[in-house]
Amino acid sequence: MYINSTYNTYSPNFTSSGRDVCNSLGELIHRNDTSLFRSDLGNWDHLIDYIGEKFKNAPKANLYSLSCSAGDEVYSLAMKLLAKYGEKGAEKYFPILASDYDAKIISMAQKGYLPMFEGDDKLINEHTHGKFNKYFEIVKTVPDFIKNMDLDYDFIAKVKPELRNKVSFKVADATEECKSVNPNNSIVMARNFWPYLKDETTRIQMSNNLYKRLDKNSAVIIGSFDDTPGTYASKNLYDAGFRCNLNNCCIYEKNAIPITEMYYF
Ligand SMILES: C[S@@+](CC[C@H](N)C(=O)[O-])C[C@H]1O[C@@H](n2cnc3c(N)ncnc32)[C@H](O)[C@@H]1O
Repeated sequence: MYINSTYNTYSPNFTSSGRDVCNSLGELIHRNDTSLFRSDLGNWDHLIDYIGEKFKNAPKANLYSLSCSAGDEVYSLAMKLLAKYGEKGAEKYFPILASDYDAKIISMAQKGYLPMFEGDDKLINEHTHGKFNKYFEIVKTVPDFIKNMDLDYDFIAKVKPELRNKVSFKVADATEECKSVNPNNSIVMARNFWPYLKDETTRIQMSNNLYKRLDKNSAVIIGSFDDTPGTYASKNLYDAGFRCNLNNCCIYEKNAIPITEMYYF
């Protein structure tokens, strides 16, 4: 399969699903590559602590993923929230609102299937105090529609209702979806997809729209792939007015201390 060289420089180790989506000329449009507990986010326990602390006084918090792919990111989030705060304590974060503009990957996620690689069961058990079997069942017969999707995986898991019900999936373009997120008490994960946006103007617009839409108690989270040669989502967000959280540079907030001002104390 032909791969556009623009995207060749970034090659993290994935433990979950991978899929190249090309146009009729064989040119890469986007990749669905994703991973459970994707490591570019840093320490997932710290992220969950950050979310818990940020929204400790809020009766409801809104978690979004605007480029959710197969659902690894949002299921990782849901499992960690449940492990840390329990069913009752984590209730205010659910359902996590997940969207992606790729209708095929969303259709698979809506049906409750999640592609996995060898070792993902162990990884899940490590993060959830041994709850792989509570949340997933390995399917014996892979449905034909998944076989026809040209996905990379070792096995397919069916997500059990206990976890599946914590996430709502829909097809949506992130550039539109960002305009209608709840301004208050929201975390907007817009991760590892900025290079797929049409051009720099679109990335600037997306950053400005997020800044205009979100209130100070909300945040945007990006990934490593979003700062690759030719794409600097961190700069776009900074120029729009966001500042990165000093403990985790994936997290962009409106109310963090501006980096430029830190040196003048
Ligand atoms: C590399 S995957 C990243 C998945 C996940 N966010 C993560 O970090 O593991 C990129 C995803 O972005 C989606 N995508 C690309 N452009 C998009 C857009 N304009 N709106 C919504 N989703 C988009 C692709 O379909 C793909 O599933």
